[in-house]
Amino acid sequence: MKNIVLIGFMGSGKTTVGTHLARYTKSYLIDTDMLIAAQNSQSIKNIFENYGEEYFRKLEADFIQWVEKNIQNAIIATGGGMPIFNPVRGMGKVFYLKIDFEKIQKRLTQTELDSRPLLKNISEAYEIYKNRQTLYAKSADIIINADQPIDKVVSEILKYIP
Ligand code: S3P
Repeated sequence: MKNIVLIGFMGSGKTTVGTHLARYTKSYLIDTDMLIAAQNSQSIKNIFENYGEEYFRKLEADFIQWVEKNIQNAIIATGGGMPIFNPVRGMGKVFYLKIDFEKIQKRLTQTELDSRPLLKNISEAYEIYKNRQTLYAKSADIIINADQPIDKVVSEILKYIP
């Protein structure tokens, strides 16, 4: 199986969908934010605060190269900006989890908002959301409606997996 790469805005459900897909396909989930945070011994929020966004994007670029060289048969849940700053197609088959901004706002808890540096200001976050739509779609092999019950999202993706 080619890696399954999940892209989409913060709160679109990449990690949750990824855990389900990992179970169904009997493979492992790689959460890019989690591994980057672990490798740098600090949270993504702290990496942004201590080194800035540009540095974080470089860490993401290195991560993509590592996946391309070393990882097969995995589910990759990307950070929301990964495909915006670096091409992700080389990692595997790319699924864009598409969902309205209003729905995302309803989904995210205060703790989840606090841990995401780019969601500090809602109107700025909406601008980022709008600006990213075209690139998400262009980066994807398949666009999935993520505003459905999790089982439906997962089964829709599984239809594309041999
Ligand atoms: C970001 C999304 C976050 C994380 C970082 C930047 C973005 O990941 O990588 O805060 O630019 O959209 P999630 O999509 O998992 O929240």
